[in-house]
Parts: sequence; C-alpha cells; structure tokens
Amino acid sequence: MTGIDIDGTSVEVPEGASLLSAVRAVGIELPSLCHDDRLSPAGSCRTCLVRADGRIVAACVTPAVAGACVETGTDDLQLLRRDAVELIASALPPRALAADSGSELAQACRSLGIGPCAAQGNGGRGGDESHPYVHLDRDLCIACGRCVRMCSEVQGTFALTLTGRGADTVVAPGTGGPWAESDCVACGGCVDTCPTGAITEPGPGRGLTSGNRPAAGLTRTTCGYCGVGCSLEVTTRNGEVSAVLPSRDGPVNQGHACVKGRFAHGYLTSPERLTRPLLRQRDGRMEPVGWDEALDHIARGLRAAVDAGGPDAVAAISSARATNEENYLIQKFMRVAIGSNNIDNCSRLCHSPSAAGLAASFGLPGGTDSFDNVERADCLLVVGANPVEAHPVVGARLLQRVLHGARLVVADPRAVGLALHADVHLRPRPGTNVALFHGLAHVLLTEGLTDGNFLRERATGLPELAELLADYPPDRVADITGVPATDLIAAARLYGRAEHPAIVYGLGVTEHLHGTDGVRALSNLAILRGAVGTDLGYGVNPLRGQNNVQGASDMGALPDVLPGYRKVTDPAARSRAEELWGAPVPQQPGMRIPEMFAAARGGELRALWIVGEDVCATDPDTQRVTQALATCPLVVCNELFLSETARHADVVLPVASWLEKDGTFVNFDRRFQRVRAAVSPPGEARTDFAAVHALASALGVDLGCPTPAAALAECARLTPLFAGLSHDRLDRENAVPWPCPGPDRPGEATLYRRRFATADGRAHLAAAPYLPPGEQPDEAYPLVLVTGRRWAHYNSGSMTRRGGNLGLDPADHLDLHPDDAARYGVRDGQQVTVESRHGRARLVARIGRETAPGQVFCSFHFPASGVNRLTSDHADTVTSCPEYKVTAVRVAAP
Ligand code: FES
Repeated sequence: MTGIDIDGTSVEVPEGASLLSAVRAVGIELPSLCHDDRLSPAGSCRTCLVRADGRIVAACVTPAVAGACVETGTDDLQLLRRDAVELIASALPPRALAADSGSELAQACRSLGIGPCAAQGNGGRGGDESHPYVHLDRDLCIACGRCVRMCSEVQGTFALTLTGRGADTVVAPGTGGPWAESDCVACGGCVDTCPTGAITEPGPGRGLTSGNRPAAGLTRTTCGYCGVGCSLEVTTRNGEVSAVLPSRDGPVNQGHACVKGRFAHGYLTSPERLTRPLLRQRDGRMEPVGWDEALDHIARGLRAAVDAGGPDAVAAISSARATNEENYLIQKFMRVAIGSNNIDNCSRLCHSPSAAGLAASFGLPGGTDSFDNVERADCLLVVGANPVEAHPVVGARLLQRVLHGARLVVADPRAVGLALHADVHLRPRPGTNVALFHGLAHVLLTEGLTDGNFLRERATGLPELAELLADYPPDRVADITGVPATDLIAAARLYGRAEHPAIVYGLGVTEHLHGTDGVRALSNLAILRGAVGTDLGYGVNPLRGQNNVQGASDMGALPDVLPGYRKVTDPAARSRAEELWGAPVPQQPGMRIPEMFAAARGGELRALWIVGEDVCATDPDTQRVTQALATCPLVVCNELFLSETARHADVVLPVASWLEKDGTFVNFDRRFQRVRAAVSPPGEARTDFAAVHALASALGVDLGCPTPAAALAECARLTPLFAGLSHDRLDRENAVPWPCPGPDRPGEATLYRRRFATADGRAHLAAAPYLPPGEQPDEAYPLVLVTGRRWAHYNSGSMTRRGGNLGLDPADHLDLHPDDAARYGVRDGQQVTVESRHGRARLVARIGRETAPGQVFCSFHFPASGVNRLTSDHADTVTSCPEYKVTAVRVAAP
C-alpha cells in the first residue's frame, strides 16, 4: 500500500493507484470526463487537475507516490477545473446541459456552478439512429475517447474510432457508414461510459448508465441468458423495465454486459406473452381458462396416468432457465407428490458429459477453477467453444487476456471469435476430439512436458494411458483429425511449457457420441501437466450454456441423483431426503429425456410436464419429439410464449421470466447469485415456483418450503455441498461458490487443493480410445453440419427474436465455404434446402471461410427453419447427450 496526504488527510491506496483513486478514497469527487475506472487512463480532458507536491497534474494519469502531498481544493485549482469543464461544455449545444440531463458532464457543470447557458455550440453535426440499441448524437461528443477505449479494452471489438480533426473530432464506427452496419456487437459499453449522452440507448433507458443510475427503483439481479452470470441492475418505470445496466461490482462481469443481458428485454412486454392458462378443447383448439380449471385438468390427468401405469408413467423436464429453488421444488414434486425419479433437465442436451466426465476425472461435476483464476493463465486452451458469441462477457475477458500477452490455442473446426487471435488454431474434423486430445497428450508425454511429482502423488491411471497414447502419434492423429502434426505439436508445447495453463471448453466437446470420453481425454491434459488442484495451472472449465444449467443439476433435477448429486440408489442419501421430506423416495433411477420421449411413443409414459424448454425446437430429431408429445395423453407446458412445444401441449401454464422472479442461479464457475424480481409477470402468469406449489396443492400435497428462500434453506439442510448457502448470505456477499460446507465457511472457488473428491482422493486419467462419430458423410450426404449459437440470439430465440435483436440478426443462415458453394451451385444470400438422413430445413446461404470445406454451420435460434429436424438421435454413450455437432447433410439450391 502507498500512503499519501490529500488536503491534510492521510490515506493508503494500493500500489500503482492513481491520484484520482486516492482523492476519491477520501471522499472528494473531481470531474473526470475522460476517465472510467474500467479503462486505461487517457489524461486528455484536464478536468481532474490537482496539485501534487507543488505541481499541477491530471490526477487520473498521475500515480500516487508514497509521501506525496496533494491539494485539491484551492481556489486556483477549482478555477482551473471549472475552466476546463466550461470550455468543453461551451462547444456543445444547449441540450447538453438541459435541466433533465443526468449525464456526467451535466452533473459536473452543476457541481461547479456552471449554468446551462454555458453550452453555446451550434450543433448541426447530425446523428446516427440506425442501430436498434445504440444511438449517436454527434453534437454531444467531446472526443474523450472513452467509448473507443471501452470497445477495444473491455469488449475487444475495436468497432469505434475518433475521426475528424480538432474541434470536429467525433466518434464513429471504424468501418464508416451507419452504426447498424458496423462491427458493433451492442455490448452497451460505449453507452455506459459516455459522459455526455452522445451515445445513448433509445427509449425509456435513454441517458441511464451504471454511473448515474437512480438509487430508487433499482433491482439487482443475475442475468437469465447464458451461464456467465452477469450481475445486472434493472431500472423500472410505470411497472416496466426501462433499462438493464451492468453492475460495476459484478463478481463475473465487473461492469460489462452483452447485447442479450443489456438490451434484450423487449420480450417482457410482447403482445405474444401468455397471460392466462391455455387448455386444449375437444375440438383441438387451445382456449384460455382460469388457473383452477387448468390445474384441475392436470391433476386429473396425472392421477389417471398413475392409475394406468404407476408413478413412472409420469415424467417432468425441468428447466435450466428456472431458478435453483424452482428446480429444487420440481424434483421434490416428482419424488414426493408423484413418487418417481422421472425428472431431468436440459443439461442432458449440453453438459451432462461435463458432469459425468469431470466427476469421473476429479470427483465433482463442475468446473475445477474460478474464472478469476482462468483469467490469470499465461496459456489458454479454448476447445469447442465460441465464447465471443455464446458467452460474450467471458469471451471479451479472455480476448483481453490474450491481447495482454497470454498464449492462445483454440481447437475448433470453425475460424471464428478467439480463433482469429490464436497462436495455434487446431481445426479438427467434427467428431474427432478424443483423437485430438490424445495426440496432444502423446506430445506432452513423449516430450517430457508432464509433472512427474503430481502424477506420482495425486493421480492414477498413467500406465494404462501411456499404453493407449502410444497409438496416437501426431502423424496418425493428423490422419484422423485433419490437424497438421506440426500444429498439434506446437499446441502441445504451448500448453505443456506454460507456467499456468488453463483449459476452457464448450459444447464442441460434449455434444458428441463420445462426449464424456472427450471431457475425460481433455481432463487428461491438465492431469498430465499437474495443472489442476495446484498452483501450476487453472484446471478444466466448462462454459455452461444456459443461465442455470449448472444449478438445475445441482438441485437434483436429474433422474439418478438427489440434490447435491447424491445417488438415488444410495440408501443413506434417500434416507436423509425422506427424513426431511417426510415421504419415501423411489430408489430406481428415472428416465432421461430421450427415454421419456421413447416411452411416450411406446405408450408407457402417460403424462409429461415440460417446464420452460422448447423441446420441439431444441431437441434433436424433432419430428420424433413431436410424435412423442402427440402420443402422450397429457402434456403440460410452462411457457412465456406459445412455443413449438406449447403448441403440442394439452395445457399451457403462463409463467414468469427471469426478470419477474425471485431465487438464485448458479453460473458456470459454480457461483450462487441472487435473482430478484424487477417487475411483475403479466396477467395471470405465475412463477414456476408458484405453479409447482399450486399443482401439488391440486393433488392434495403440501411440498413445504413456501418461499424460494425456504426452498434453498431446505436444500442446504439436505446436502453438505450447499450447507452454507442462504438468501440472506447471498444478499450480503453477492456471490458464493459451491462447495460451501457451512454458513461461516467460504465457498471453494478453486477445487481440489488438498485432494481430489474421488473415492481415492486422486485425479483419474482416462484411457478411452478414439471411436468415430455416429454420423459420417457419404456420397448422398457429403457435408458435415455443426450447430451452435450466434451472438445476437439465444437458444430457440423465443426471447431474442421478440425485440431489437431480431433487427441485428434477422434470419437463420447456413455458413458454407466458397468451394462447397461452387460445388453445389449455391449463391450468397440464396434460400437453400438442407437435408439429412432425418429431415429437412430451409436456410439462407452465407458464403465465407469461417467453415472448412466439407463443413457447414447454422444456429438453432429460428425454430421455423427446422434445423433440429436435421439432427440425429445419436447420443453420448454415457449420458445420452445428443450428437448435435456431427450431422451428415446435403445442400441444394432450388
Ligand atoms: Fe483526468 Fe480527463 S479525467 S484528464
């Protein structure tokens, strides 16, 4: 720490802190129009002048030196700062200082006694309102450069620049032309940092930033889009959300956000929101009814199903979008009110191989390290993930790490996002991950890039793995994967020689026929290197897809485990739950999601409750899913909108979204964070929590835990993993990772420092051979389709297609290489038909070099395109996670 004197008050600030930080630390506010704590200092506006040891300096760019004496309040300094601010304001038109302006500049003027008449500029430079979320008023730009630095230093998009000379300097998209056609990804960073209102969000959020947000009417919550877990602050007006701002002290996002969390809340007030329960009538029409009638119908249907086929004739698919407390209650409903373990959630479709693989390798079904650790890595191995689009805040932070010197290896078939900045980009053929990871491990082993001590003391399985790896020399791996042997060796050396490497991966590892083997083979690398559970590296970290997919599984919304991953086959685990719940817990594991659909088609499943998942759009081979729903006598759906799935339901219950409910989520690095309702759900919509209670009551069952806080408290009593968690604690501490064994114990952000959580306390190397994917291209279906996410949309698109994001990305594209376009006679922008062995979809062709020849890529954000009619029912042999990443297709232009 550094001690200095500010106007006679002593203060200690961290080493390297600026004088501006020191001045603020004693409670003195200075104008600082070109400064934002999230950015490197520029020192260009001269509004923060102070006197340090007799010299007048800009506080924002002057380091605090031990023993310095700083003056801030003398008349001359005040005059200097006033003149600097007044000079800046004088070039702006009068509206810059309008009485209702809450901009940083307007506030600075008010605090310095500068009246509105100081703004004397003529304006006339015009604006740019082409973008749905970011409007530019050039007349208010003071060329402070904060937006440009935010775009480069935090977001890493480099979309903005300053153009013009002297007084005509103004921010502009770097590409020229309108903002909407620029590289802007609408993270909102420029809006949030702009000190004058030159860059604003249109609509009721105009002028609001995380720096000037109102104290009243503000709700802090956790984002309900991807699994990053950004802390957001929601402002409301007249009962509606007016703006969503990033929390500056957000544990993961640290004042940043992305286009979804920041702006995509227009769906809340969509006229298509469901506001009353819908009940299918005898003639097939869906009619609005009251909750009592809907619940009565469901209760009768559930009783009939149980009468006809026993408790296991009923199943529920819980939601990775719902809160922990809702998931806890839903699994309890199935086990207590129905008497079945037929409960699953959509981690089945994404990261169930992570849970299985990580648990087998290390002991617990979660990532091994906190993201704070990962960010300290000097070498990042990013595999099968495109965080720049799918997890933008994490993507931005990883990119910054790379721009600041970390080495980067990307393993992904596509040349997108971080791959463009990689030291080595490995592009394996889809479905060959296991061979790729074994090839990397082979190099680590043969080049002595392993940690012998760690392997001896803390791991097991080396002899078996070494024997297997002998079959994976780089040349053979090159034949299997298509990755040049030299690239493979270079990547292994980067990872193997780094001081603190970290692995981050996504669905490109898990959504395969051998996804669990992929997770384990990837984990082998960290074990060989001794880079997990030690200071030598930052482990293996899955980027979870949905906001609470980790939490849904943590809460026991799985057919084989109770909350906290205690096996239903374990008598001690059942007995503890029975004691707490006052009801027997069935001991046979229940059905997984694909088994539920198969059982429905076979007539054994007679009632299916689907909570917040659009299985007819997002599950593979959707025609067979639709068949299953058509065959099942009772299908109940909790939904915001009349989704593809809801259209096939017998009863649809209107429910609240993440901005309308209370509880907690668990993000990708195992942090519990609070979710709080900013607004009320529309019409008669209820939270899933309330809907589960209501249905239990209709069956005459009291599930206890009447509030979300009580539900988490009960879960904490049930499982040692979460014993220290409560709403009260999270309200105080914002984020607590699991495992958290007691209220007075911190959570474990980094796992396995002393021992692994396996039965023998060791990390387990896995010696599973490479096996080919379930789908292979052939003459009839010569291309391999990979599906994934685009930056502006989310999953089935039910929220992001209802609002401004649709303007940013209005159609579903099929990306294909120019060679393939030429071969199949496809023009850019042309409608094409894509056919697989399972179905057909219609997409718009987009020709580019992001995909390799022989591969095509599309998202699944537009259900009408029918992308998941193409995907197969091949699934991970261990967890039943679908093989979304490998589908053989052909493309035809009409
Ligand atoms: Fe210090 Fe601009 S804030 S010079």
